[in-house]
Amino acid sequence: MLLDPDGVLLENGSLPRPDPQPADRGAGFDGAADLLARLGEAGVAAALTSTRYTRAELLARGVAQRVAVIVDADDAERERLAAPPDPALLLRAAQLSGVHPARAAVLAGTTEGVQAACRGGFGLVVGVDRSGVREAELCRYGADAVLTGVSALQVDREAGRRRWWQPLRPVSPAAEQAGWLLDYTGVDPDAEGVRETLCTLGNGYLATRGAASEAVADQRHYPGTYLAGIFNRLRSRVHGHIHEDESLVNLPNWLLLQWRPEAAPWVLPSGPGISDYRQSLDLRAGVLHHRYRHVDGHGRATTVVSKRLVSMAAPHLAALEMTFVAENWSGTLQVRSAVDGRVTNGQVAEYEPLAGHHLFPEGQGRDGSGGLWLRMRTSQSRVDVGVATRTRVRPAGGAPDGPCRRATMARARPQETYIIPIREGEPVRVQKAAAYYTSRDRGITEPVAAARQAVAQVGSFTDLLTAHVRAWRRLWERSRVELHTSSSATVLALNLHTFHLLASTSPNVVDLDAGVGARGLHGEGYHGHIFWDEVFVHRALALHLPEVSRALLLYRWRRLDAARRAAAAAGYQGALFPWQSGSDGREETPSEVYNPRTRRWMPDRTAYQRHVGLAIAYSVWQYYQATADVNFLYTYGAELILEIARFFADLVRENPTTGRYEITRVMGPDELHDAYPGTDVPGLANNAYTNVMTVWLLRRALDVADLLACHYGPDLTDLLGLGEQERVRWRRITTRMYVPWHGAQIISQFDGYADLREFDVSGYLARYGDISRLHLILAAEGDSPNRYRIGKQADVLMLLYLLSAEELRELLAGLGYPWPRAALPRTVDFYSGRVSHGSTLSRVVHAWVHARAGRAISWDYFMEALAADLGDSKSGSTREGIHLGAMAGTLDLAERCYLGVEIREDALWFNPRLPREVSKLHTLLTYRGQQVHVTADQSVLALVASPCAAAPITVRVAGQPPLRLEAGEQRSIALKPAVPAM
Ligand code: BGC
Repeated sequence: MLLDPDGVLLENGSLPRPDPQPADRGAGFDGAADLLARLGEAGVAAALTSTRYTRAELLARGVAQRVAVIVDADDAERERLAAPPDPALLLRAAQLSGVHPARAAVLAGTTEGVQAACRGGFGLVVGVDRSGVREAELCRYGADAVLTGVSALQVDREAGRRRWWQPLRPVSPAAEQAGWLLDYTGVDPDAEGVRETLCTLGNGYLATRGAASEAVADQRHYPGTYLAGIFNRLRSRVHGHIHEDESLVNLPNWLLLQWRPEAAPWVLPSGPGISDYRQSLDLRAGVLHHRYRHVDGHGRATTVVSKRLVSMAAPHLAALEMTFVAENWSGTLQVRSAVDGRVTNGQVAEYEPLAGHHLFPEGQGRDGSGGLWLRMRTSQSRVDVGVATRTRVRPAGGAPDGPCRRATMARARPQETYIIPIREGEPVRVQKAAAYYTSRDRGITEPVAAARQAVAQVGSFTDLLTAHVRAWRRLWERSRVELHTSSSATVLALNLHTFHLLASTSPNVVDLDAGVGARGLHGEGYHGHIFWDEVFVHRALALHLPEVSRALLLYRWRRLDAARRAAAAAGYQGALFPWQSGSDGREETPSEVYNPRTRRWMPDRTAYQRHVGLAIAYSVWQYYQATADVNFLYTYGAELILEIARFFADLVRENPTTGRYEITRVMGPDELHDAYPGTDVPGLANNAYTNVMTVWLLRRALDVADLLACHYGPDLTDLLGLGEQERVRWRRITTRMYVPWHGAQIISQFDGYADLREFDVSGYLARYGDISRLHLILAAEGDSPNRYRIGKQADVLMLLYLLSAEELRELLAGLGYPWPRAALPRTVDFYSGRVSHGSTLSRVVHAWVHARAGRAISWDYFMEALAADLGDSKSGSTREGIHLGAMAGTLDLAERCYLGVEIREDALWFNPRLPREVSKLHTLLTYRGQQVHVTADQSVLALVASPCAAAPITVRVAGQPPLRLEAGEQRSIALKPAVPAM
């Protein structure tokens, strides 16, 4: 590892313990003396801090001879410098060395030392762990890299001069390999929107985009803040059409913290005078770092370093800390801290003609020391939103002349300006904490009172940080899928996806009424609506955070009445869930979509995707299988499954000619096909995915009815009006549903698919480059994808994502369609060549279906799925929010697909087949009350059940007899050569 700072501080714990053996002296403190000598030669200031040793002891051990500055145990006592984790000792050493902290590296051997260095705002924090086993722990506390000794450090003073402080806190080799740091260097205005989305911090309740705190919404920046489930409806007149849209509301911006040196313009990190810009998201800790250097028109250079969090431990709170170091000047610094309620929903260019003004001010004010508050109300849903902030200024070394502050109460934007004396080289710290409450929160009197109280009681940034990092640590332990692969980029991408899944749906949702937004809480794409994408999310959550899955399913249960009304309005029984859902469960899909290529509105028929109900029922059953939570099933889950089943059974019509059951006028997941060519009648007949999953659903509904009968007795008519006759019809459908076929036993996507024309995929790719929005391209050419064999995303192949090959074959056989093993790869190949992957969900499914027979292809798809948002593969859509379903899908893929995990028939199934690129995989599954550590490599599957009071579980490993796993038990199972899944 290369060090290029202006100064290096060796903190107490990086030195070995005092050893009475003279050998200790000879070893020169494990290379510390040698390192100090090398630093001396390179002209890098070196300092030692110790609360353990006196100067004399350090000299006696041969480490202090070449050090200019020593702050020892005696100094600490005399100057009352608190010991680490307080940064006082380190800051004193930096001051005496004439090096400012942002340009100094600290070598620390204890978690306290690491904490102290982080809190002190030091440029690079290197953990020294001689034991070799504490790397993870030191990283968790904030170390940028962990080494087993100091001898490995190389010193490059010249490089440091050239690059100034910027290479400090680099993507250190250790952190990069571990895949925990999403790092951006330099300002890139075109990529800003994507960065902001990917650097969003969230805790399931509250999320704030990773915009610079100095920025307001403009062409590049969009500092959105969203709370789960806070929607509002607006009407707009666009080109003579009235649109009514419900949107996740962009709430007042708490981040706003602007600054300037006296008599200079306000500084923007993307503005003039900026250099050495760096932005890093620390996934493990859930902390976003920004740093840059600014030189104003008078040559005054200032370094700005900031950290930010949205508390995972206290979901109503967020905080930031900004440190300013005047490099070559002294004078006054102005800092303006505001709560900006003058925000609108204005992120998505396509929605520009739509109204976006959702919030109206209801009051604002100041509180004692640095406090501001703002009350806003949404215009239609009448949600009161209370935001309170508290800003604290901490001049370095307790400057005698403290800041003075001035408040300006512009409407909907209370703010305070601080005039802060700053002296060259002495850091000034500004901390801001914010609290959000709404009238939908429980256990409060009203939102503003709750928010003001919360910020009044909040501790320092460090206090918040400590609890926040701990909460993240617990979540990572439960959720992480650890891939051992040589590609650190793969590990980083998978960790990033897990991070955003948790930022959108953490255990903080358990008491909320919030669904799974397709774009997370990260932007305004799709108005923040909830789609079937949740099926990908529940699959990932069910075996890690089942309590979160349960809470999110309740969002659907609470909207059963709306779904019942929708079914009735369409002339059906049961529950018809909307394709796009918002606050009250009505259909939110717009009836028209704007085509920027033609500048015309086109009909949007995606609401014919009735299959969203199948996804909900599937997710309920997954949750039940993962937890055996019968109370949930009796109280909520059964009602969801039965009502959805009732709707689909009613959708089914018997064809008198064939005696088979059919479903017409629906769309499958592939959104490129919404009608038959040349017709205006929306929908298609017998979408195979919908038909087969309906059979799966009716079978589960019958299982549920049996389970309910155990609880309530065999007569369920009083409960849900479920009589024997209805069940008889369901049973008949499960044996006589129609499935379309073509060619050599290939499942047809829908009736008539085989008659469509082939599509020239490569020709269109060559012409347009990106064909992810093919329907718009073809419409502009006066054509329609309905004429072609080209899909937007996996449709038939979704069956193989949700059901194992074995299950699917068994379902088809039950319908009288024997499906030979060889027909499966033919089906996979057929559709794989006819898809544009216009949805990010598609590649996840393709990676899945190729995993057994085409491992190399599968890995390529997996890589592409991991790159979807990181590479903004959907041409700009990432700036409007993450693609949460696809992110969760990659996690599901890495885990369930590669481990061959299934949860069915009251057992946890494994059939591991790791890709060649993965030498080992580890994760912690929560299954029916047990926590099972699962580790697999190419030949062994190891299961370790944590000791607890949970009952034994049944584990099925492919090709082996079932086994009973007791809590506390360990099993190591030699894997037979891969068991084919088909
Ligand atoms: C996909 C849908 C998905 C929606 C929201 C669309 O592009 O085709 O399957 O539900 O995006 O993510």
